[in-house]
Amino acid sequence: MPSSSNRHAVILAAGKGTRFKSAKSKVLHEVCGRPMITYLLDRLPDLDIDRVFVVVDNESGQIREALQEYPVEFIVQEEQLGTGHAIMCTTERIGTLSGILLVLYGDTPFISTENLTKLLETCEETGCDESLLTTELSCPTGYGRILRNIDGSPADIIEEKEATGDQKKITEINAGFACFRIESLVSNIAKLSNENNTGEYYLTDMVKILDNAGKKVQAVKVPAEEEIFGINDRIQLAAAEKQLQKKITMEMMAAGVSIPQPENVQIHSTVKIGPDSVVYPGAVLEGNCHIGKSCTIGPNVHLLNAVIEDRTNIENGSSVFNSHIGWGCTVGPCARLRDQAVIGNNARIGNFVEIKNSIIGEGTIAAHLTYLGDAEIGREVNIGAGTVTCNFDGVKKNRTIIEDNAFIGSNAQLIAPVRIGRGATVAAGSTVTDDVPAGKMAIARSRQTNRER
Ligand code: UD1
Ligand code: CA
Repeated sequence: MPSSSNRHAVILAAGKGTRFKSAKSKVLHEVCGRPMITYLLDRLPDLDIDRVFVVVDNESGQIREALQEYPVEFIVQEEQLGTGHAIMCTTERIGTLSGILLVLYGDTPFISTENLTKLLETCEETGCDESLLTTELSCPTGYGRILRNIDGSPADIIEEKEATGDQKKITEINAGFACFRIESLVSNIAKLSNENNTGEYYLTDMVKILDNAGKKVQAVKVPAEEEIFGINDRIQLAAAEKQLQKKITMEMMAAGVSIPQPENVQIHSTVKIGPDSVVYPGAVLEGNCHIGKSCTIGPNVHLLNAVIEDRTNIENGSSVFNSHIGWGCTVGPCARLRDQAVIGNNARIGNFVEIKNSIIGEGTIAAHLTYLGDAEIGREVNIGAGTVTCNFDGVKKNRTIIEDNAFIGSNAQLIAPVRIGRGATVAAGSTVTDDVPAGKMAIARSRQTNRER
């Protein structure tokens, strides 16, 4: 293993991303819930890379913010004049380093550690000045095409926009990953020219430049894999999403999760699901969701940062955002839990129930058509249909406390702040404005009179 100080990396992340037509940087567009560039950054710790540079444009605040947690150094490329120009902007910094430089494009995020290792080791072991990853594609359109010398070594890369009709037929393409001996790169990069059809400095011209200078260029040809897929527009973004989604669902199924229609769910790469759970079609599971064993995630359920413990069923059409649900619960259909709702074990939250920033105790039931906001509800409480915690007085939010074993009849309004004592009953149809002592029954509704018609 080489000493770590000999391997460095640059990720190109500036570029105008013209084809995305977006105010957001291309490399921050998300694939399965994470900015595409982060997939690349996550590979690097396995590659024994010393310093990592990211080339960003002058609106780089976005990227700096998104990559706060990564130990990278930023280099600004004021004007985006091509991939070669992006590397020119780094030479001042990398010129002081020795060893080899791995160059990665922020829009090809799925490359495997194995292939990057092959690329690095080829550069190190053969002592070549550049190693580059190539592959054969039946449809090479859009990629740079590889020209070879008679001895088989790479002679040049011809970009799509520069290629003649015959060159376009070449199926060996530049996958967009290269390793350079830093010294050879820095001493030759000024030879790049922008006299071509786009007026850009192509990093890919370095092959020809090094070859002409008598330097050694080595191709590492790998089988065509989905991992070299480049994301240049939103159509390719959707294709990348589909590709990664397939991988995520395959891994989950292999680990014991049932997904009857894997092509009809959206599960972020950050989601964890225990064995014997089932995820039905239309489910969208985002962010840091942790779902336990033997759970059911019903059709069209939307979860974001939800923790769901074992044997809990989330029924169709429900959404659970930033909330925690204990084991053995049922939630929904069409329930909405949000803003740190915490649901105790064995609770039953039924259809059209909204729970916001509330704690619901073990075994408590709120089966139908209810709003519980800013409430603290004990164990084994029954919340009747149509119960509303009236938590907002127009200025501030007030809390409702319902103690263990209380019974709230249907269509009760609880005007917060208010406390319903342990084992107390609220009669159906009551508007409760005052605390109800433990064990008492509150009835607060106008008396019925039956008159002559
Ligand atoms: C590039 C290669 C092509 C290869 C393909 C593989 C060049 C000239 N072409 O084409 O041979 O087959 O990738 O996917 O390198 N960027 C900057 N600054 C710039 C321009 C680009 O930082 O001035 C960054 C972009 O953010 C992007 C990456 O470099 O992440 C690649 O640029 P892009 O324009 O996407 O190159 P391709 O046309 O895909
Ligand atoms: Ca690209």
